[in-house]
Amino acid sequence: QVPYVGASVRQVEHVLSLLRGRYEKLEDLGSGDGRIVLAAHRCGLRPAVGYELNPWLVGLARLHAWRAGCAGSVCYHREDLWKVSLRDCHNVCVFLAPSVLPLLEGKLQAELPEGARVVSGRFPLPTWQPVAVVGEGLDRVWAYDVHGGGPGGQAAPAPSSALVPRAPDPQAA
Ligand SMILES: C[S@@+](CC[C@H](N)C(=O)[O-])C[C@H]1O[C@@H](n2cnc3c(N)ncnc32)[C@H](O)[C@@H]1O
Repeated sequence: QVPYVGASVRQVEHVLSLLRGRYEKLEDLGSGDGRIVLAAHRCGLRPAVGYELNPWLVGLARLHAWRAGCAGSVCYHREDLWKVSLRDCHNVCVFLAPSVLPLLEGKLQAELPEGARVVSGRFPLPTWQPVAVVGEGLDRVWAYDVHGGGPGGQAAPAPSSALVPRAPDPQAA
């Protein structure tokens, strides 16, 4: 359902910018050749883990990690993302087809802990409200934060590269 298309250099940069300062575990759901996992590890997100169905891509990702001297530091699993538990994950990255994103929203909402951040490349999650949007066109990336009552933030992606300020918390007043 979701073909392999590697994230562009800019897309990877945008993903990392939206995860800056968040040094907990990162999981890339559908990790392809592992480029985002490797880049995240280099930026200090530890552990950085990829889940990928295609065994050839898992092998390629491991080869890239080995060539980068990170073989023992990053982790690639040949696994169906729908069977992966996200309960201990604070940073999730996805670059999937729009057709699967409605179903993915349900899984993210059911499993992610409070405070987790989801970063989605190229296609936004259909009903969640982004807290930040970076990039243009095919390189655009959306960030979402999970709060106690589910994901929240402020709607309306900006027309150009921009951070969307978080919506005020009505309970904070
Ligand atoms: C658009 S590519 C993105 C690859 C990588 N995340 C990147 O940004 O470079 C989507 C990937 O998801 C993988 N995929 C699709 N369905 C999957 C599933 N159910 N479980 C794990 N991986 C899956 C595909 O094989 C493909 O490599």
